[in-house]
Amino acid sequence: MRVTLTAIKADIGSIGGHIRPSASLLKEVERSLQPHLDSDFIDFRLSYTGDDIAILMTHTHGTDNPLIHQIAWDAFKAAADVAKKEGLYGAGQDLLKDAFSGNIRGLGPGIAEMEFEERKSEPFLLFAADKTDPGAFNLPLYLAFCDPMYCSGLLLSPKMFKGFKFEIMDVSYTEGDKVIALVAPEELYDIAALLRDPERYVIKAVYSRTTGEIAAVASTTRLHNIAGKYVGKDDPILLVRAQGSFPATGEILEPYALVPYVGGFMRGSHQGPLMPVKRNSSVSFFDGPPIVSCTAYCVKEGKLSEEADAFDHPFWDYVREIASKKAIELRRQGFYGNAMLPYGELEYGGIVERLKALEGKFKIRH
Ligand code: 13P
Ligand code: 13P
Ligand code: MG
Ligand code: MG
Ligand code: MG
Ligand code: MG
Repeated sequence: MRVTLTAIKADIGSIGGHIRPSASLLKEVERSLQPHLDSDFIDFRLSYTGDDIAILMTHTHGTDNPLIHQIAWDAFKAAADVAKKEGLYGAGQDLLKDAFSGNIRGLGPGIAEMEFEERKSEPFLLFAADKTDPGAFNLPLYLAFCDPMYCSGLLLSPKMFKGFKFEIMDVSYTEGDKVIALVAPEELYDIAALLRDPERYVIKAVYSRTTGEIAAVASTTRLHNIAGKYVGKDDPILLVRAQGSFPATGEILEPYALVPYVGGFMRGSHQGPLMPVKRNSSVSFFDGPPIVSCTAYCVKEGKLSEEADAFDHPFWDYVREIASKKAIELRRQGFYGNAMLPYGELEYGGIVERLKALEGKFKIRH
C-alpha cells in the first residue's frame, strides 16, 4: 500500500517563556484532529519538543495535499486561540500568515512529508528539534548516509553499496525553492562543501541509489525569510526510514552522540550543543540548550505502532552530560566570537539598530 507520512510542527504558545506548551494546547490540537481520524487520515500522534508541538499523520492523499494541510493548520489555529486565552507566551508564534490557501508551506509551521510503498515492515524515525534551525540535521544525516565510520551498512549491506542521493536546498533564496542534487560517494566533497554552512545550505531529502526510494525528508522553513524579522527559531523536524536499503536505526542515531554545536539557543542568536532528549522534554538553561527528540515507529497499512523513545536510554544520559558540559563551556564566553552567531544570522534582529546608531559615531582618521 502507498502511504504518506506528514509531520508538521509549530510553536503556538508556551508556558513561562519559550519552555513548553501547556497540556490544554495539546488537548485542543487532539480535539481538533480527532473528527478526521479514519476518514481524512488513517492515524496520528502528537508530541512536543521544547515549545513546539509536532503532529504526525498517516494517510493516502500524497504530499502537499490541501485537505491534510488544512486540518493541521486549523488544529494549530484552534490551539493558538486557547494559548491566547491562557495568556501563554508567544501565542500563535509560528502562524505567520492569517489566511490558509491550500498549502501550509510558507505560512510558518515546519513540514516534512514523504510518500512511499510500504515495505513488509516499515520502521521510521521522527526527529523534532527546538532552539535551532534546519541545518542542525546536516551533520547527523551526512554521517549516517555517507560515512562508513558511522554507517557500517555502507560496507556490510549490499543494498547500500551504491550510496545515497542528497537534495540540498539554498535557504537564502526566497523567490522559490533553489535545490541541487548530489550523490555520495562520488560527490562527497561537494556535499561537505555545502553542508559546512548549515545556516545557508540544508538537506531537504535523501534517496537510496539502489532502489530510488525516499530515505529522509526534513523541514527547511526559515522563519525570518517569511517574516522579514526575527520571530523565533525554525525548530525543524525530520523523517527518516530505517533498515533494509536504509541505514539501521542505530546508525541513524549514532551521530547525535557527537552533540555538534548548532545555531539557535537563546534568542536564536547563539551556538549551542544539540542535546538528544526524551520525548516531551522542555528547554531550560539559556533557553536551551538546543534539543532534539527522536520517536521510532513502524507503520502498517497506515496504522502507527506504539512509539519507542529512541533517546530514552542510559547511553544518552551520558551524552546529555557531555552536551551540558559543552554548553557551559561555550556559554563562559558569553557574546564573544563563536558563542554568538555571525552578523548574517543576527541581521533579522535588534542588533541592526544598535550598529546603525554606532555607525554615525565612527570617525575616519587619515
Ligand atoms: P538482531 O539480531 O537483534 O535483530 O540484530 C540485527 C542487526 O543487524 C542489528 O543492527
Ligand atoms: P523558539 O523559536 O523556540 O520560540 O525560541 C525563541 C527564542 O527566542 C528563545 O530564546
Ligand atoms: Mg517559542
Ligand atoms: Mg521552539
Ligand atoms: Mg521556534
Ligand atoms: Mg532483531
